Amino acid sequence: MNKRQSHLKFSAMHDNQFQKLLDGFNLAWSGYRKVRKGVKKHLSRHMQELNCPGFQAYLDLITQNDAVRQECMLRMTVSISRFFRDRKLWVGLEQDILPGLIKTQLRRLRIWSVGCARGEEVYSLKIIWDRLRQTYTHLPVLEITGTDKHSGYIDKARAGVYATSSLKEVPPEMREHYFDIRRNGHRFDVKAFVKADIDWKVQDIFAELPGSGFNIIFLRNNLLTYYNESLKEEGLSRVVKALTPNGWLIVGSREKMPATASNFQRHHSIPWAYRWEG
Ligand SMILES: C[S@@+](CC[C@H](N)C(=O)[O-])C[C@H]1O[C@@H](n2cnc3c(N)ncnc32)[C@H](O)[C@@H]1O
Repeated sequence: MNKRQSHLKFSAMHDNQFQKLLDGFNLAWSGYRKVRKGVKKHLSRHMQELNCPGFQAYLDLITQNDAVRQECMLRMTVSISRFFRDRKLWVGLEQDILPGLIKTQLRRLRIWSVGCARGEEVYSLKIIWDRLRQTYTHLPVLEITGTDKHSGYIDKARAGVYATSSLKEVPPEMREHYFDIRRNGHRFDVKAFVKADIDWKVQDIFAELPGSGFNIIFLRNNLLTYYNESLKEEGLSRVVKALTPNGWLIVGSREKMPATASNFQRHHSIPWAYRWEG
């Protein structure tokens, strides 16, 4: 097959076939609508690697072979992230939410980033925490956990090496202070003191949780975007069980909580941060 033919095959998955796959995995069209072109390309490439003569053959393989099913799920995963995504949230965390929690004189502050992808969210929090050290003489012990269902992302998170595109919201003085800048400013390695004391885990929220009693849980741009309604509700109720009363659940800035979610109070200036009243 020449390059042109293989390109034609890559773009061959139709929306109705893609919808079938989404249904099979209990994923939501609304979440994938905007990113479907890229995801369909990954899937077409997967079909080609497996020498599938057509879409039905691919579906059959996914049903019969667990390794193929897992690989298909990985290729459907959207893992886009960046440091300080939704800038307003990080300002609110530094100026209000974290100081509010510190004021309650906790001995330890427990934070969980669910579906942390390559770790940008976790390191953003570590950077904010380091900045708070300059204001407070006494801070609680920070316990921070990042989980993702895909081990490849957790390996990348642990390594903490990023391209410029992940740092577009990081101002130059912060880049200097928190990253070792390599390759003429094209590669950024998170410094060792920022990487210290983070608990990284490969976990699927539908199978396992990293514990309970969390003061803040980041549940951003995964469950509430990409899963169908029933999994959203099931996943959310599992995650909320890990929150401590008066703890914060932070979702993505464009995400909606399921109608069944109760006992949540929105933050006064960050409408996608919710205090859970227990
Ligand atoms: C788009 S990234 C979001 C990264 C980060 N939270 C952010 O908002 O920038 C979504 C991540 O969620 C992970 N994910 C999806 N479903 C998951 C599940 N059931 N359990 C754990 N992680 C999951 C994916 O592997 C992916 O890395």
